[in-house]
Amino acid sequence: MAEIIDGRRIAQEIKSELLARVQFLAAAGRTPKLSVVLVGENVASQIYVRMKTKSAVELGIASDTIILPSETSEESLLDVVDKLNADTAVHGILVQLPLPAHIDENRIISAISPEKDVDGFHPVNRGKLLVGENTLVPCTPLGIQELLIRSGHAPAGKHVVIVGRSKIVGLPLATMLTQKGDRANATVTICHTGTSNLSSFTRRADILVAALGQAEVIVADMVQDGVVVVDVGVNRVGDSSTEKGYRVTGDVDFDSVRSKAAAITPVPGGVGPMTIAMLMHNTVQAALNISASSSTG
Ligand code: GUN
Repeated sequence: MAEIIDGRRIAQEIKSELLARVQFLAAAGRTPKLSVVLVGENVASQIYVRMKTKSAVELGIASDTIILPSETSEESLLDVVDKLNADTAVHGILVQLPLPAHIDENRIISAISPEKDVDGFHPVNRGKLLVGENTLVPCTPLGIQELLIRSGHAPAGKHVVIVGRSKIVGLPLATMLTQKGDRANATVTICHTGTSNLSSFTRRADILVAALGQAEVIVADMVQDGVVVVDVGVNRVGDSSTEKGYRVTGDVDFDSVRSKAAAITPVPGGVGPMTIAMLMHNTVQAALNISASSSTG
């Protein structure tokens, strides 16, 4: 039976390490600050935003949440972003996605100052990641890399198969894990909706990352014995036996895959807490970077 990789414990470990850096910045009068912008009433987004700001408060990171109605215009949202860019007390800006359909997400993300882009979504930061320059990188892939290393399943020399080519997870993770260096050095295959015979690829994974956004698609006969499985999915499936009428599950059929895997992340309690820990990490990093560049003129 597989080892369960405890994302909550590892995220807590990272947050404890961050505390000292937050205190160092606070003592220098530069308390890191994260501003989160939420547009509309998407319930899942509301929950995510609450978890992010709660985590910031626990670490002594200042945070505020700007809540805007769903009919907010693109121009008004750009104004909000501009004000946060100009506010020297703010080190990290996060605009929660998805945005309402009438707002162009790319335009908003591109308006965030790259130095404050703690999501790592700005094209400048994506480009820097691609060419191997040090920069702010997306939180979920960073959390997956950290989770693998800290749980003793470092990706170096391994065949990592990523199912899903999203801009938030699959693509940046593939870039990160193929880089030269002790924390990466993996051989990576990306599978997606255009992949024929998905199982023929997933069965060859030493490390399988499921980030396709469909409940319990990865089943036992799609993996080899001894695989390490990282489940990025967060899906609600109807379940009349629960009080809420649904349960939250990943992209992996946990019970069947668990019997073949060497290690597996649970949902919830796997990748989710790591994403938040890495957002805190990026906020502290942004504050340190901004602090360093302002003190050198
Ligand atoms: N919506 C789902 N995941 C994310 C994320 O990592 N960042 C932002 N800004 N929105 C999201």
